[in-house]
Amino acid sequence: MTWTGRLIGTLVWVLCGLSSTQADVILSADETAQTLRHGPWPPEVTLDPSNRVSGDANAIALGEVLFSDPILSRDRAMSCASCHDPERDFSDGLARAEGRKRLDRNTQALWNLAGQRWYGWSGDSDSLWAQNLTPLLNPAELGHDPQSMQSALFASVHRPAYEAIYGEMDAESALETTVNISKILAAYIETLRSGKTSFDHFRDALANGDMQLATQYPEPAQRGLQIFIGRGNCTFCHSGPKFTNGEFHDAAVPYFLEQGGVDPGRAEGIDRLLESPFTLDGDFADDASKAGAWAVRNVRFQHGNFGIFRVPTLRRAAHTAPFMHDGSLPDLAAVIQHYNHIDMERLHSDGEAILRPLELSDQDAEDLEAFLETLADD
Ligand code: HEC
Ligand code: HEC
Repeated sequence: MTWTGRLIGTLVWVLCGLSSTQADVILSADETAQTLRHGPWPPEVTLDPSNRVSGDANAIALGEVLFSDPILSRDRAMSCASCHDPERDFSDGLARAEGRKRLDRNTQALWNLAGQRWYGWSGDSDSLWAQNLTPLLNPAELGHDPQSMQSALFASVHRPAYEAIYGEMDAESALETTVNISKILAAYIETLRSGKTSFDHFRDALANGDMQLATQYPEPAQRGLQIFIGRGNCTFCHSGPKFTNGEFHDAAVPYFLEQGGVDPGRAEGIDRLLESPFTLDGDFADDASKAGAWAVRNVRFQHGNFGIFRVPTLRRAAHTAPFMHDGSLPDLAAVIQHYNHIDMERLHSDGEAILRPLELSDQDAEDLEAFLETLADD
């Protein structure tokens, strides 16, 4: 072997040695127990009893095609995929969505939405299908009315596939067809489930007592996890397998709009829910038992609902910048610094005493980011 050959050989050996260095598992028993609560992943598939085409293979296939078809917009200029781009984690990479005008909010990614209690940043809907109606009928988004939506589907190549699922379109009102389209879209969106990440493999290894496997999870990510479940208190709101409790909180993000005025957040969501004929308690829900309608029946406006937003999932968040309901934070590092130097003056709702400036070192902040990235490497 030549001298250079030996040198390269040595280098390769050193590099392989470095990359296979195994971390110790540094979690305490209590931290391990807390970690286990963020799984298992993926959750079991549950069908939506309020949507009778939930899980139906024909509806899923048609929903996938419709999602990207511009017939969904009145002037054929846009589709769901214009904002929820499948190539960009079903989001758009913009701070705030661009519809017919710039909207006030950031486009949510559409992963893992099956079985949520509330949808949208302010929980305007209590089912996935009801949430899908909003962009269809909003003049600033796809801009249909039920009549134009039904006519567009009637004249399209999708009519036979639609009628194979729901029967003759002639027999339906325009509103029924429009609600059915939102249910077909929901059947598809329910299938968007993110995969197992290196965090999940670590969590499963801990659950199975396989410490050899657990040591493959890098130490910086373990230290970040310790901050997440420990002094960062992140799990208080970002709990469970989806890393969200699904409810509404104040994370001290300003809720002023650039054109003046404010985004009322959950307060507006509650108004919309209480006015909506499309809740789980209404006539458009397919199950007579009205399972799940207890939540909307118990919603009451409280002053503290003002300016609070739904806790986002952190699965695949590393791919869905910019962040927060208004897209005001450009990357994960900025979100971590937001929590690190949280502006206590900005906390406007009652009872969020949980957030405090964290006093993280640069190393801590990097570790926390390394942990969040392991929720997105599936
Ligand atoms: C102009 C951009 C735009 C278009 C077009 C659009 N969306 Fe959205 N989508 C958004 C924004 C912004 C939000 C956040 C809404 C809010 O909370 O105010 C959102 C939220 C959602 C949510 C809620 C996700 C969650 O985590 O609760 C669903 C579901 C959804 N959209 C589905 C659709 C479907 C289906 C279509 C097509 C019929 C569509 N969207 C078209 C921008 C868009
Ligand atoms: C009091 C509840 C609460 C706590 C504690 C909390 N969060 Fe959040 N988190 C939220 C809410 C609510 C939002 C959305 C705020 C908004 O858009 O106005 C959010 C947004 C985020 C986002 C942006 C996700 C997206 O898709 O836009 C990240 C990342 C995040 N939090 C990480 C963390 C980390 C890391 C910690 C711990 C240091 C933490 N959170 C602690 C409630 C909380």
